[in-house]
Amino acid sequence: MAKWDYSAAPESTEIVDVRDTYGLFIDGQFVGPASNDYFKTINPATEEVLAAIPIAGETDIDNAVRAARKAFKKWAALSGGERAKYIFRIARILQERARELAVLESMNGGKPIKESRDVDVPLVAAHFFYYAGWADKLDYAFPGRRAEPLGVCAQIIPWNFPLLMLSWKIAPALAGGNTVVLKPAETTPLTALLFADICRQAGLPPGVVNIVTGAGPTGQALVRHDDVDKVAFTGSTEVGKEIQRAVAGTDKELTLELGGKAANIIFDDAPLDQAVEGIVNGIFFNQGHVCCAGSRLFVQESIAERLIGKLKQRLATLRLGDPLDKNTDIGAINSRDQLEKIRKLVGIGVEEGAELYQPACDIPERGFFFPPTVFTGVSQSHRIAQEEIFGPVLSVMTFRTPAEAVTKANNTPFGLSAGVWTEKGSRILWMADRLQAGVVWANTFNRFDPTSPFGGYKESGFGREGGRHGLEAYLRLKETT
Ligand code: NAI
Ligand code: MG
Repeated sequence: MAKWDYSAAPESTEIVDVRDTYGLFIDGQFVGPASNDYFKTINPATEEVLAAIPIAGETDIDNAVRAARKAFKKWAALSGGERAKYIFRIARILQERARELAVLESMNGGKPIKESRDVDVPLVAAHFFYYAGWADKLDYAFPGRRAEPLGVCAQIIPWNFPLLMLSWKIAPALAGGNTVVLKPAETTPLTALLFADICRQAGLPPGVVNIVTGAGPTGQALVRHDDVDKVAFTGSTEVGKEIQRAVAGTDKELTLELGGKAANIIFDDAPLDQAVEGIVNGIFFNQGHVCCAGSRLFVQESIAERLIGKLKQRLATLRLGDPLDKNTDIGAINSRDQLEKIRKLVGIGVEEGAELYQPACDIPERGFFFPPTVFTGVSQSHRIAQEEIFGPVLSVMTFRTPAEAVTKANNTPFGLSAGVWTEKGSRILWMADRLQAGVVWANTFNRFDPTSPFGGYKESGFGREGGRHGLEAYLRLKETT
């Protein structure tokens, strides 16, 4: 299988209007930071500076939390049907402005346009539509219990799915009658600020959604603010643990969605060509910057050689390069820091004696890129089998029996997701019962739906997002009998 040559097919960036300087979105207005400090946000595929972004400090955080508190009384007092109208309106505007959002997401984050266009943005709108539908049904969602909002929610999100994580956080919070202060990641603030504009366009009352930008210290100030009722975080296990310590002893509610090291398990009766597509989607989707990525591949020994052969052939056809090109499969690594982390762990994999395979592939001179990488000859104790790499790097191991597959798959501090490939339904159920993972995919991988809860076991965190479970995480439920 040779890589086909395609002419360049770049998506035009004309549809987006990137401003030189942005403001913090507080109480329905874009305002400058009290400190007057800004940082530059770049395009990771070109290293070109896109805009100056304010750094929110304690004063700004306090202003945002106050605005959210003030807005909370009225927002929570609206009928669910009234709240739903606003959320539906946001969902429709997200669809109307889908192309603009997708292009900006790819420019600021490095993900291929075909993913932001066909996966991220449609799912974002779907989340808002889904939770808009719950807003007037809270009394029916949890029979025998009355639902009340929690209050002001502090929400901190990562850079791998900037808009999608925003939707997972904001949509259920608003449906439940809460108000929010959300902090996007420092490398990907632009689509959250565009979302702020959409809130204005939808006529959302000022203060219901506030967006503050900055890095770790901004997040820290938000988590620690006294008048926050709930903290929701998605990101590294390290920061998740720090946040857990910071809210311990307060009455703040907490949900954490942290890292993963998912097992993708291929049995000898699996449809191999489909499995290869699932493996590729599992680890190379979004450059492997996916908390539920199928980064550990377990193949039944009898088919290992054949499957790995097919996988290598498939890798040779992946196109790496300009995220805005419609034919690109693998875009840019999100930041220089993340590229360094991937390089370091891949170097450790080689030192530890695993065998590295990378297809021939041209790496652009500017920007942050890493080729699709497969390690074979990996043992359970290798760091590349234990640690989250968060890049396009797959570690392949083998097993003989289903019980061995379960033992090896569960040998990790994480437990976010897993995949099972087999023809037998009974085996899928047997495996799903035993795998310690919040989500188990069968004969597919990396599928998301707003109606389906998502979340982890062990060091992958706690709490669920999506579905009725995700709504419950933003409510206080009181017995009515
Ligand atoms: P991070 O956990 O530092 O960043 C996530 C968010 O938390 C960002 O908005 C950041 O500004 C904020 N933050 C950082 N320190 C904070 C603090 N002390 N208090 C409150 N908020 C804080 O993740 P980072 O450093 O960008 O990535 C490191 C590794 O974490 C990645 O290589 C990957 O393995 C993992 N990660 C996992 C994600 C997931 O979806 N589960 C997402 C992003 C990273
Ligand atoms: Mg960090």
